[in-house]
Amino acid sequence: MALWALGDLHLSFQSDKSMDIFGAVWRDHEKKAAKYCRRLVKPEDTLVLTGDHSWGHSLRECEEDLKYIEALPGRKILLRGNHDHFWDVKKTQRLNDLFGGRLLFLQNNYYAYGDYALVGSKGYCYEGRDTWEHFLKIRDRELERLKTSFEAAKADGFRRFIMFLHYPPTSIGEMESGFTRMAEEYGASKVVYSHCHGQDRFYDSFHGDVRGIGYSLVSGDFLHFKPLRIL
Ligand SMILES: [Fe+2]
Ligand SMILES: [Fe+2]
Repeated sequence: MALWALGDLHLSFQSDKSMDIFGAVWRDHEKKAAKYCRRLVKPEDTLVLTGDHSWGHSLRECEEDLKYIEALPGRKILLRGNHDHFWDVKKTQRLNDLFGGRLLFLQNNYYAYGDYALVGSKGYCYEGRDTWEHFLKIRDRELERLKTSFEAAKADGFRRFIMFLHYPPTSIGEMESGFTRMAEEYGASKVVYSHCHGQDRFYDSFHGDVRGIGYSLVSGDFLHFKPLRIL
């Protein structure tokens, strides 16, 4: 049994949003991701996809993209990215009901992996596109959702956590944030995130051990679309 993560597939089977303009690494990236997943992920494994799954704006526009994800091996857990407009955050349970376990949506809940709880939320960081007030509003909402996820796992007796975010845990230049403090407060072993694309952005946030927690970036283009083994 193994735990894998990969983020930002930005699939577009039903739209003409090709990612090829972002560099050679994106050429046929959905084929590369499927090939690596089939090679590495066993049926008994768990694969966490850390958001930005599809360019579709509605569930109907994402059908093919989500079918592609369903066909990947293992138990698939999805996190919400900033581009996942098909996912109404207030209706996550509806998505979980609709996909009946074929896809699992992580929001205000958690999933067990052995004696670990897999917790997470979209997260947020400052990228200079927001007013400060708007940034604080979104950030605080995400911190609240992440706390709900941790607390649900804790209430069920979990004491070991792997924390997933879509956004990097810190804004550029920060050495800590509400998200890293929460990871430390609950004693998360690892923090896994994506969202950062391109060489200029890959090192926006933490890599490796910081104050006893292992941080990993799993953006598809950073990993050349090969899922990273987390446990
Ligand atoms: Fe992305
Ligand atoms: Fe993103």
